Amino acid sequence: MSISRRDFVRNTSLTAAGIPFISKQNLFMNPLADKVRIGLIGTGLRGQNHLDLLLKRADVELVAICDVEEKMLQTATKQIQDSGKPMPKIFTGDANAWKKLLEIKNLDAVMIATPWEWHKPMIIGALQAGIKYVGTEVILGITLQDHWDVVHAAEQYNAQVMMLENVCYRRDVMAVLNMVRQGLFGELIHLQGGYQHDLREVKFNDGVHPYGHGVEFGEKGFSEAKWRTNHSVYRNGDLYPTHGIGPIANYININRGNRFLSLCSFATKSRGLHNHIVKNGGENHANAKVNFKLGDIVTTQINCVNGETILLQHDTNLPRPYSLGFRVQGTEGLWMDVNKSIYIQDKSAKNDVWDEAKLWLEKYDHSLWARWSKETAGAGHGGMDFFVVHAFIESIKRKTATPLDVYDAATWSAITPLSEQSIELGHQTIEFPDFTGGQWMYRKPVFALNDEY
Ligand SMILES: NC(=O)c1ccc[n+]([C@@H]2O[C@H](COP(=O)([O-])OP(=O)(O)OC[C@H]3O[C@@H](n4cnc5c(N)ncnc54)[C@H](O)[C@@H]3O)[C@@H](O)[C@H]2O)c1
Repeated sequence: MSISRRDFVRNTSLTAAGIPFISKQNLFMNPLADKVRIGLIGTGLRGQNHLDLLLKRADVELVAICDVEEKMLQTATKQIQDSGKPMPKIFTGDANAWKKLLEIKNLDAVMIATPWEWHKPMIIGALQAGIKYVGTEVILGITLQDHWDVVHAAEQYNAQVMMLENVCYRRDVMAVLNMVRQGLFGELIHLQGGYQHDLREVKFNDGVHPYGHGVEFGEKGFSEAKWRTNHSVYRNGDLYPTHGIGPIANYININRGNRFLSLCSFATKSRGLHNHIVKNGGENHANAKVNFKLGDIVTTQINCVNGETILLQHDTNLPRPYSLGFRVQGTEGLWMDVNKSIYIQDKSAKNDVWDEAKLWLEKYDHSLWARWSKETAGAGHGGMDFFVVHAFIESIKRKTATPLDVYDAATWSAITPLSEQSIELGHQTIEFPDFTGGQWMYRKPVFALNDEY
């Protein structure tokens, strides 16, 4: 079936109405598929989290897994054995083994949890193989062109590409979404968020442990130290924007009545990673000579067509407790997650005094959490990981658009190359591309409108 770009972009916003993007006939023939046949590419630490969630679901048939590392596959196959589910086909041996996995007949979907640089070729490969649902871990591609390529491929093959942005489903983030939608903050004016996570012991390890115990990276590193750290060597920008921007984009309906207009980024000097190597490996360690291009703190400002501003921070190289630093501020009040507080004019207990956020967050708990919180027990990142996989699988079963779509994925991930460009050009303000081709004006919000998925 061929479909015009305009129809595709419009149709991806029809989920809420329950209108299928593939065809009505399909929907009526099979209103709710009972089993989803799925392949998983990448069984590293994140892939193993997804595996755990997939194995718990009665509506998932895990058909195949793929990885290039024996150690990761061993852990994954043990997980599968322990679950009592049948062993899927295993694809390994070389960096292109995933292409063979895509040749399996009747795969409903693939999930991808590989290093960032593999996402684009694997997504596009899956679409070309005729797979209609691709769930990819965060960061769609590397260059701006990568993001366009994935958008165009999803349109060409009339398929869904969902970025598995789990923070959109965090319990407090969703309660605040509920509050935003009920108008408690008034009209939104300014938002903040980011990725503020000390990754020094993720970027360096001893090649055995995933976190710390050494200062190796690249070929001598294990898990993310093997590939992620090189991005800090060669790139300077907001390398991980989606955990912060995803929730923010949902609050202000980006690509659905609103859009990002332009962006400007600044980066500090780079000290944290070098200091970590010297402190833990000594100044004579070979890695003490590496020049890291990534500034320790990268700050990005974005403005929106509806008049909001956004401040995003990427802060991964310095000692600090974890915090995504959300702030959602409107004409009536604001939420700040770092000090766990909310203030709403005329509704808070005292004038100009913070309320404990908990009181509001419990009162406005999102219906998804209220319904499914039992199922989240044991799921990663405080339970939110359950919801992102749940949303992906339920969309497939209904043959409908995913609640986070390829335009969301491209728009959020494109912040990385745009911020690099801004910094490279001396903090120039860069125009934000419109991946929807003007359809943002007509598309309607679909994310988490009810308690289903
Ligand atoms: N959403 C979240 O909260 C969250 C958390 C952690 C990681 N992630 C994302 O998940 C992705 C994977 O991260 P990770 O922590 O699992 O890293 P990892 O290094 O532990 O796992 C990546 C896996 O991909 C495999 N791989 C590499 N090249 C491959 C190829 N050509 N074919 C098949 N497999 C290949 C590696 O062998 C490894 O097992 C990244 O995009 C990361 O940003 C997201």
